[in-house]
Amino acid sequence: MDDILPGGQPSTSVHHTCMARTRITFPPLLMPRAFASKLLKLYDYPDPRRPGRMIKGYDCPHALRTALMCAAVAQRLGHEPARVKQYQIACILHDLGRAGLDRQLFGRIWSWARAQGIPTRPREWRAVHPETRYGRETEAFVARYRAAMGEAGIELNPWACEQVEMRLGYARRLAARLRTVKPRLRELAVTWSPWMGRIMLYYYYPEKLAGAQPWVRQLAEILVACEQFEAFSNQRRGRDYYVRRREDLAEAFAYLNALHKEGIISRPVVQALRELSAEGAFDKVLEQARGRALSRRDRACLRQAGEE
Ligand SMILES: [Fe+2]
Repeated sequence: MDDILPGGQPSTSVHHTCMARTRITFPPLLMPRAFASKLLKLYDYPDPRRPGRMIKGYDCPHALRTALMCAAVAQRLGHEPARVKQYQIACILHDLGRAGLDRQLFGRIWSWARAQGIPTRPREWRAVHPETRYGRETEAFVARYRAAMGEAGIELNPWACEQVEMRLGYARRLAARLRTVKPRLRELAVTWSPWMGRIMLYYYYPEKLAGAQPWVRQLAEILVACEQFEAFSNQRRGRDYYVRRREDLAEAFAYLNALHKEGIISRPVVQALRELSAEGAFDKVLEQARGRALSRRDRACLRQAGEE
């Protein structure tokens, strides 16, 4: 985690301008670093293939960087401090349903599915297969493609089905992981509220937030926006998940616009993220996601982000 926060600086480094608004140079971590590390440990998963061994959380840096940016956007949109603290805890845990991700197997399954034009997210699956019972997308996928995948050399054994569940059954798997870690969260004195689990489901299951209070919905939107913004700059994810050769900030902003057009992210959330980007609040986080310095083109793209 030390490679994520700026070395030797307070994690909430801020400087005040002559105007009332506080400009941040690094998004805030609203908890001690050691506490955040304990939360990230919850991503470790016992390896069913090698008893006694743990699978380390796949992309904890992504979870932490997302949580940093989420807190900055939530603060900018005026959410109260106590709520933002709880929110940041939820954001750190937002990918808990992926604990145990087997990079190679997960990559093979979903590259194969994508190459066949098979939907890889629950809402996309339901659009193509309205006959599938709600929440049974994993079972439907396995029943439909077991034979074809076997021919392609991917055996859908229980461990492979678990990898399918990490996408198509995300809600069920996340709920199971949250149940498992609840005692540990209690030990860590985390005050858990149901909305913290609900916001984690928004990207895959926007319908689950229908009727949610506006502030819950907005926090969910911020999580989707920041998570996607981070993922577009995350070099490791790009290679592992998306077969991407290079990261492009213009594409990240274009994707946020597309999510706005789809009605997934509202205008104020996109605008707050753009303004913070323009002010330089996310430069260091994005550099860490990239694993290298931002180019002049990237910086120009960020500085202009507030103008659209
Ligand atoms: Fe994520």
